[in-house]
Amino acid sequence: MAFRVRLAVLSLLARCLLCSPADVDFVYNGFRGAANLTVDGSASVLHGGALRLTTDGNYLMGHAFFGPPVRMVLGGDAVASFSTAFVFDIVTAGGRGGGAGLAFVAAASKVLPGASPSLYLGLIGKDTMGNASNHVFAVEFDTAQAPGLLNEINDNHVGVDLNSLVSNVSEPAGYFADDGRKVPVPLESRQPIQAWVDYDGRSKILNVTIAPVSVASRPRRPLISQPIDLSPIFKQDMYVGFSAATGKLASSHYVLSWSFRTGGAAQSIDLSQLPEVPKPPPPPLSNSGSISAAIMIAALSCVATLLVIVAAIVAALWLRQRAALADTLEEWELDHPHRFPYKELYKATKGFKNSELLGAGGFGEVYRGVLRRSGDVMAIKRISSNGSQGMREFVAEIASLGRMRHRNLVELRGWCKRGQDLLLVYEFMPNGSLDTHLFGCRAGDGEPRPLLSWEQRVRILRGVASGLVYLHEEWEQVVVHRDVKASNVLLGADMGARLGDFGLARLYEHGADPATTRVVGTLGYMSPEIVVTGRATTATDVFAFGVLLLEVACGCRPIDPVTGVNLVRWVRELGVKGDLVHAVDERLEGRYDVEEAKLVLWLGLVCSQTRPEARPTMRQVCQYLDGEVDMQEEAMIVFADDDPVEFGSKASLTWSSCATVSAGSLQGGR
Ligand SMILES: *[C@@H]1O[C@H](CO)[C@@H](O)[C@H](O)[C@H]1NC(C)=O
Ligand SMILES: *[C@@H]1O[C@H](CO)[C@@H](O)[C@H](O)[C@H]1NC(C)=O
Ligand SMILES: *[C@@H]1O[C@H](CO)[C@@H](O)[C@H](O)[C@H]1NC(C)=O
Ligand SMILES: *[C@@H]1O[C@H](CO)[C@@H](O)[C@H](O)[C@H]1NC(C)=O
Repeated sequence: MAFRVRLAVLSLLARCLLCSPADVDFVYNGFRGAANLTVDGSASVLHGGALRLTTDGNYLMGHAFFGPPVRMVLGGDAVASFSTAFVFDIVTAGGRGGGAGLAFVAAASKVLPGASPSLYLGLIGKDTMGNASNHVFAVEFDTAQAPGLLNEINDNHVGVDLNSLVSNVSEPAGYFADDGRKVPVPLESRQPIQAWVDYDGRSKILNVTIAPVSVASRPRRPLISQPIDLSPIFKQDMYVGFSAATGKLASSHYVLSWSFRTGGAAQSIDLSQLPEVPKPPPPPLSNSGSISAAIMIAALSCVATLLVIVAAIVAALWLRQRAALADTLEEWELDHPHRFPYKELYKATKGFKNSELLGAGGFGEVYRGVLRRSGDVMAIKRISSNGSQGMREFVAEIASLGRMRHRNLVELRGWCKRGQDLLLVYEFMPNGSLDTHLFGCRAGDGEPRPLLSWEQRVRILRGVASGLVYLHEEWEQVVVHRDVKASNVLLGADMGARLGDFGLARLYEHGADPATTRVVGTLGYMSPEIVVTGRATTATDVFAFGVLLLEVACGCRPIDPVTGVNLVRWVRELGVKGDLVHAVDERLEGRYDVEEAKLVLWLGLVCSQTRPEARPTMRQVCQYLDGEVDMQEEAMIVFADDDPVEFGSKASLTWSSCATVSAGSLQGGR
């Protein structure tokens, strides 16, 4: 009984002697979390858990050491047995030709003596090579051959380094299969490779074994099994870890898992927990002297991908543009002829460019457009309307307006509706609008227009009157223009007058609330009754034409923008004084037919009478202008009681009195 107790105590003592309290034993299946590592240089632990010693860049160096030192020399000179296993992965863009390699290292300091990048694996410097004070032990996994320098056997070898990079022993990388055959292992094949380094402190045998992790189990025979005395190399406390460097040739060097133990066999690595290795970065072109085929292919595929992306973007933009230019048709829009595709008008006006702008008015802007198909020049009016209801009804009338043909009406060639925009396509009038000729300003090119002769003026007025007769009486329904004015009278190449924008004001009336009908027209041309009732009739057109007659004859605006003088009142006053022809445009310097001038001015006053029923019809105006009917001597303008134009005691003006006074003034030589 006592013997058995003594035996147990002895075995306990023996165990305590064998296993030193300073033994180190750890396994890191990936380096996330608890791994106690000191890293420097290019080394870092990635999010995925892999320890990356270097990236695939030139002249990089990285180290990673287990944080605390490891007791390697026990009592006396006895070197501790140690065992380590780790999985590394060397990734070279292109698969081969990188460098320089990585090493398992045990060193007296975490700062390696004279370490530098390039071929020395970050272990030892050129000047410290072989110096006994280095205290560096390393097992190198070398992927580059330093020509003539380090006695290296090839560019894919495993070696044991003692204070020097000239290996004490090295072998081409590989493993011995169970049948004794040696299977080469390309170290930079981008496959995880497991390595085992075992040192027996008593027998002083160092074993190094490697195998790709895809090999089912650890090869029984080591790649290297060499008697090595580490006692001159090892100090009592050593730091264990990894070192790697790149030089002119480069690879990414990874350690994925690490198990280490002193005084016993290292724990097995759980290969199922290996962290992923990041995909290799695109190879730097300076990596080697010539651009390799692989790099070329990679570059070409990058360019091809870019081209595809650019093509896709261009196609998407084109489709968007097409969609943006496409018309959305409502059913009712299809019924009407002369409908232009928006795209065509967009192109014709160069995208409604400002340089194509002919003018802008109350209803919208007018652009010059050249139709691609025919080469015809058009005037394209763009109207923005908020009242879509009014727009719909107006567009319904376009078919009717589009069928109108009269030599004194601007021809409506077609239309297009898009969202809130209505586009009306008219024939192009090369000489612009009448007001620019009358007032000699703002022609398209900014040059003053030549003065209109009296004959031209009368012809223009006859034309406008004829156009209005057509609208009022000759078309299948009565069309009230609503906006007769000098800027709506356009002049063709022959200086013939064409009335434009007819019916356009209807657009606004359609959209307006009937209770608060919007007054449409232009100040100075609007008859008194339209301001009160808001209802446009043919008589309101006649009033506006009367103002136009005076404007053209006198060369003055209906309301002088500077003095504010009302043209109608001023001519009436001259008429009452019996000096009607005094109103005729001074710039004509008397080059006009006096009788004709008197007629035009008289008709202007007759048409612009306050009482609408007193005004003649457009047909009658035409007949007077054309001389088909002579003005009756007793023709008289009776000023209404509510006439805003005051004449003191005079309540009427007669044709004969105008003539008489005029004649008298001539006779009297006044
Ligand atoms: C890591 O190592 C250092 C020594 O380098 C030590 O001080 C520290 O306690 C260790 N940390 C852990 C968590 O083991
Ligand atoms: C070895 O290194 C030590 C310290 O770095 C230095 O003092 C010594 O001169 C070196 N020996 C040789 C032979 O270079
Ligand atoms: C080293 O390998 C030899 C031959 O396979 C073997 O006999 C010995 O036990 C190994 N030593 C260690 C420490 O693994
Ligand atoms: C390898 O190291 C041993 C001592 O550990 C030494 O005897 C042997 O000469 C060395 N061999 C070479 C080639 O350096």
